[in-house]
Amino acid sequence: MKGIILAGGAGTRLYPASLAISKILLPVYDKPMIYYPLATLLSAGIRDVLVITNPEDHENFKRVLGDGSRWGVQLSYTVQYEKRGIADAFLLGETFLAGQPCALILGDNIFYGNGWEKLLLQAAARREGATVFACEVDDPCRFGVVEFDAKGKAVSLEEKPAAPKSRFAVTGLYFYDERVVQYARRLTPSARGELEITDLNKLYLQDGLLHAARLERGFVWMDAGTHQSMLQAANFVRSMHLQGTEIACLEEIALRKGFVTKETLRKNAAQWPDNPYYRHILELTR
Ligand code: G1P
Repeated sequence: MKGIILAGGAGTRLYPASLAISKILLPVYDKPMIYYPLATLLSAGIRDVLVITNPEDHENFKRVLGDGSRWGVQLSYTVQYEKRGIADAFLLGETFLAGQPCALILGDNIFYGNGWEKLLLQAAARREGATVFACEVDDPCRFGVVEFDAKGKAVSLEEKPAAPKSRFAVTGLYFYDERVVQYARRLTPSARGELEITDLNKLYLQDGLLHAARLERGFVWMDAGTHQSMLQAANFVRSMHLQGTEIACLEEIALRKGFVTKETLRKNAAQWPDNPYYRHILELTR
């Protein structure tokens, strides 16, 4: 299975903080925001990832993440020149996908919770259809919204509805089977001129191929797209850090997954022994 991180967009909602650099490279506590979605893909066992950037920050993303060999994964990059929507990622990534199933994650989506890796592995193992994750929120109008029937089956999807049919937001992580490019080709731009991910998911829903998994209460999902949510995310990462958990430590995940050896990690981390992030990695490799 392949992975795509959509890290395009101007991030105007975070101006002036994101004037000089993509919001997805801004720090969330101790690491750039993009570490968090990449950590989610690695946790799902995905080792071949395409990063879609805006043209201005293309080189910055490469400088931050490199070719992925530090974590035993392969990273490639492409540019989204125009704001053509989330589902455009599959058209941009068609050659990269080469007819394989994939997971798409938005660059500003942060997930953390018990049993998360198990859910990710289940979604990645599903042979047919699409999987989305729903999270109960106070302000569903800001998101894609999924409505469930009494049996917990998804029955409708709406993008940023004025009168939401449920309080379940569709989070920015999506798993698709190999049909995704074909489905994406059937989409037409919405009123705001974008290929909507919700429209793509609706096609899977109509064909009876959409699985919507609800994230349990207590699960943490953050769309770090505003100043408040970025600060909230940073505070959360900091509080977990104080309890000894380093969220989205790519090196730690790569080691756990067997993508890298302790020796490789030690060699890299040893360059910065005074830095708390790399000190944590050195401790892991003892
Ligand atoms: C996008 C999607 C929306 C989804 C959200 C999750 O919204 O269009 O369906 O719920 O991501 O982060 P945007 O962040 O582009 O407003």
